Amino acid sequence: MSISTSDLERVIREAGSIALNHFKALKHIEITKKAPRDFVTEADVAVEAFLKKELTGRYPQFGFWGEESGKTENQSSRWVVDPIDGTHSFSKGQYFWSLSVALEIEGEMEFGAVYAPAFDDYYWAQKGQGAYKNGERIHVSSETNLADAMVSTGFACLRSYLTDNNLARFCRIAQVTAGQRRLGSAALDLCLVADAQVDAFWEQELNLYDVAAGALIAKEAGATVTDFKGNPGIFPKQILVTNGKVLDQILPLM
Ligand code: IPD
Ligand code: CA
Ligand code: CA
Repeated sequence: MSISTSDLERVIREAGSIALNHFKALKHIEITKKAPRDFVTEADVAVEAFLKKELTGRYPQFGFWGEESGKTENQSSRWVVDPIDGTHSFSKGQYFWSLSVALEIEGEMEFGAVYAPAFDDYYWAQKGQGAYKNGERIHVSSETNLADAMVSTGFACLRSYLTDNNLARFCRIAQVTAGQRRLGSAALDLCLVADAQVDAFWEQELNLYDVAAGALIAKEAGATVTDFKGNPGIFPKQILVTNGKVLDQILPLM
């Protein structure tokens, strides 16, 4: 599969500058509620339109699935894109949001990139070739004790008014860990595990476009990527990503 990772970085960084231009003019951009507790801005739409044009133009053999524009015909091999992950944070002028671009070929994640324009941090990975942040190789943390670990999560499930809404799980885990975070961009949360800034992340009720790129980056950095029972794989509705060393300690609490 021949893709140019350096050209993809240029495209994704350019998409990031489109997002940043809207971010700097927040007072003038339109923000709409697409569902309860779920927002979209004109920046999401503009970034996705740019990425769709550039990616399908360069690689017509691949389909496209974007959070805002949906799926094209070809879905066996496709770009899986979240143009702005962390839209609510973005709309409030907070910095923790990202662009997420993954290439899935016949069900396997082959390439993933997560770009955080406000920090100018570009995370990427190609299957079997390691994970990188701003050109430097990254690896998960060496933390072996859950009691000394920092964990992060999200509450997408609250949008669906589920009874298993992660609040009880969060309380169980918060009582036996050293630090807990809810940062607001699942794609970037996954990269923080890859970059040893967080030791474990979990969330329910996400979508593939939230996690496709970040899960590959985490896995290539040495993370475990499982469901809440420890079954290996990318399960957007129930994803648990750890540094591997605390997995056995956290599983009984999930
Ligand atoms: C959201 C972020 C957030 C997660 C939400 C997602 P969006 O993505 O990833 O961290 O908790 O469930 O929907 O909606 O801003 O693209
Ligand atoms: Ca998202
Ligand atoms: Ca989004």
